[in-house]
Amino acid sequence: MRNPWTSVEAEAARLKRTTLLDLFAADPKRVEALTFDAPHLKADFSKQRIDGAALDALMSLAEAADFDGWRAKLFDGAVVNTTENRAAKHWALRITDPPGGHNEITAVLDRMHDFAHEIAESGNFDAVIHLGIGGSDFGPRMVLDALKAYRRSNITVRFAANVDGADVADAIEGLDPARTLLIVASKTFTTQETLANADFVRAWGPARIAAATAAPEKAIAWGVAAADVFPFWDWVGGRYSLWSSVSLVCEIALTHGVFFRMLEGAEEMDNHFRDTPLAHNLPALSAAIQMWNREALGHGSYALIPYAERLRLLPTWAQQLEMESNGKGVTRDGAPLERSACAVTWGVAGTNAQHSFFQLLHQGVEEIPVEFIVNAGAQEGPPSHRAKVYANALAQARALMVGKTSAQAKAEMVARGTSDADATRLAPHRAFPGNRASTMMAIDALTPESLGALLAFYEHRTFAQAVLSGINPFDQWGVELGKEMANALLPALEGAAAPENLDPSTDFWLRQLRT
Ligand code: F6P
Repeated sequence: MRNPWTSVEAEAARLKRTTLLDLFAADPKRVEALTFDAPHLKADFSKQRIDGAALDALMSLAEAADFDGWRAKLFDGAVVNTTENRAAKHWALRITDPPGGHNEITAVLDRMHDFAHEIAESGNFDAVIHLGIGGSDFGPRMVLDALKAYRRSNITVRFAANVDGADVADAIEGLDPARTLLIVASKTFTTQETLANADFVRAWGPARIAAATAAPEKAIAWGVAAADVFPFWDWVGGRYSLWSSVSLVCEIALTHGVFFRMLEGAEEMDNHFRDTPLAHNLPALSAAIQMWNREALGHGSYALIPYAERLRLLPTWAQQLEMESNGKGVTRDGAPLERSACAVTWGVAGTNAQHSFFQLLHQGVEEIPVEFIVNAGAQEGPPSHRAKVYANALAQARALMVGKTSAQAKAEMVARGTSDADATRLAPHRAFPGNRASTMMAIDALTPESLGALLAFYEHRTFAQAVLSGINPFDQWGVELGKEMANALLPALEGAAAPENLDPSTDFWLRQLRT
């Protein structure tokens, strides 16, 4: 059988010789052909360096990678995390009307709901401190920021994740411990940063302590009352845990039913991903394009730019999701990867990004694809701002693609009265190469449902990209070595003898930083 990569590489070589504007000229229906819908989400890939033949090659690659088979395994609850021998059933947390009505998932959801009601309505609490890190932090932090319009007004929420003590010191600042709930969120309940922060806040004396964990016995041993431990399961990966009891803080801080509506939106995206054929499946198509940019065209990173202030934490959440999942060096079978399976995800909210690193995106030597997200149903704030934020998003995508030649830049300057000599000298500095790819996506509005769907879209895209690359996205052994070494260095930093056989640089800094 022909290696499907041969066709993908041939298509990439062909398309590298064209421009995006040529692709539009060649196909008047390009926007319609390359715009796809999923629940609450629309994506236009027409400004990506792809066309029908390239997509066909990518679809053949997906077939060769047994995309349908792996997707079925995911939703059958089969072992897809092959190195840890686990299923990955975060989608099961979003089945809002399970067969038979009740199961262990809805039982925990019901308990979360009752607990949230008690905390928020009793009048005894005015603050919640949520301690967790990575997947036990990014999700709830982002959700509460994004859904500010749905927040209860009587509950202040503070997060702390970093083991730099400044973070937890800020978290308690100005709060009354007698009116504060502490939530410790940790799948393993062994994470150094979270436990150090939890020990500190527990000593400060919060009125009540709850835990969200897949290791309830450890939370109880640490001192949480069994009735206030909200479990989840080892088949929920850390970076997929925002759908679990890790979001207890959201259930408390959002008004009644909002968290459930988020689950419903995510479930809509699950159904789309599970049931839609590859050729119209938005997460899978988007995964193919991510892979195309990374592996076929060689772009080492992409910028994720939400033109929606409420989605400003999305890039941070997506960084962990994508890079902790797909930042791998070997295939599922342990063979070295021939091509990198993961680009660097980075970005902040537009328009702020325009006044920061967009200079590099427009005029830097290397192309960096951009994923724009707009909120098509923006409601908050002054109505006159809406058109401005859209205009900026559309303009950036258009400028990246269209660019401006030196000759155009020179002619503009001369028309404004610049001398020919100065215009000639300045033109190269004021020219834009253009021909730079981007995707334009829109959520229909920033509701709990659309946020749920958007986040589930990214989760499924990450999984689909892993399938195309033949890797396991559900383990994260790459974080272990640093943790082991930190544990080994800690005693020396606290005053014990330095370990032997350290490299000279680490040894030097250990002596500098010893407390
Ligand atoms: O960074 C490694 C990691 O295991 C993440 O996958 C996880 O989200 C984070 O640490 C926190 O882990 P836990 O929830 O077990 O405290």
